[in-house]
Amino acid sequence: MKSFNKIGLNKISKVDIKSVDILMVLVVISLGLFNCGCNSAKVDLSGKDAKLTSIATTEGSYEVEYPDAPPSVADGKIMWDKLNCASCHGDTGVGVSGQCSVDLTDKKLMRKQEPVNQYLLLAFGKANAYPGVSHPNYLTKATTRQIWDTVFYARNLAVPALTDAQAMDIDSVFGSNCAVCHGKKGYGDGPLSKNLDPVPANFQQYNRFYHRTDDVLWDHIANGITWEGMPNFLHKQDKSKNVVFDDEYIWKLVQYIRHFQETTEKTISVDTTNSTTINNGG
Ligand code: HEC
Ligand code: HEC
Repeated sequence: MKSFNKIGLNKISKVDIKSVDILMVLVVISLGLFNCGCNSAKVDLSGKDAKLTSIATTEGSYEVEYPDAPPSVADGKIMWDKLNCASCHGDTGVGVSGQCSVDLTDKKLMRKQEPVNQYLLLAFGKANAYPGVSHPNYLTKATTRQIWDTVFYARNLAVPALTDAQAMDIDSVFGSNCAVCHGKKGYGDGPLSKNLDPVPANFQQYNRFYHRTDDVLWDHIANGITWEGMPNFLHKQDKSKNVVFDDEYIWKLVQYIRHFQETTEKTISVDTTNSTTINNGG
């Protein structure tokens, strides 16, 4: 009996490994397709210049706690001041010389960063983030929710989050081109969704979208996802809305997708009665 069980288990794990292999091959093939010139992707996904945080640098048993409501850029600003992030990053985010050489306002660079890696950096810190400077860790000084707020405030320095009013301008374009699959509120529950496998992405699913860079979202909207229901939009038009899906408009759609995962409204996750600034100790 025991040995039968063993064989059964071995078989299962072998099958698992195989399906992972197949997945990897599919990923490699589809990345290859994006880069072969048949699609006009303008985004370089190679990440050669993405010298910042990666899963590798923060690898370990660090657990990510996802928020249960969109993080607030406005609350993040309060935490930015309270935690004295400007002591290394400067008020605007361009970086203080001798403390940090990374420019948080650099759009190209920041579009290559996954929110989850920025969370890990802030939650757990990093030794020698800059020669002789360790990145502070903030889990003892802020809640996980407040750390997400500051992540999205920092991202907003390069790519400003849309206000509700700005998002509303895009609502009707999203409504007539995307909602049929992704649903009006982005839950992936549009009328066509039942016929699709995999089902359309749910934009409110933080543990999925915080693992996406803006570059990847741009690529998926521009070039679609091969063999899945996600169409390619680059160079297409919506005549009734007078919209051309050019480079810039697709960046707007990326911001619109992020609007499901962040807000510019104050949500008061921060206690503003105690305004003491934390000294990072240089
Ligand atoms: C002691 C100096 C110091 C302080 C204080 C500091 N940082 Fe940093 N920060 C750095 C350095 C250095 C880097 C570059 C890290 C690297 O290259 O891995 C960095 C990188 C970052 C990045 C970019 C990470 C990425 O991969 O995209 C973000 C976002 C960031 N910091 C946010 C903050 C926020 C928010 C605060 C305040 C809560 C803060 N930092 C406080 C020094 C600091
Ligand atoms: C015909 C149905 C359909 C339409 C229309 C559609 N999508 Fe999709 N979309 C999908 C499917 C299916 C996926 C893939 C889900 C998966 O891979 O799990 C997807 C995935 C995505 C992703 C990638 C998510 C990720 O994990 O990276 C983004 C971003 C996206 N869609 C945005 C849009 C936008 C913006 C529009 C409108 C301009 C749109 N979609 C229109 C079906 C659709």
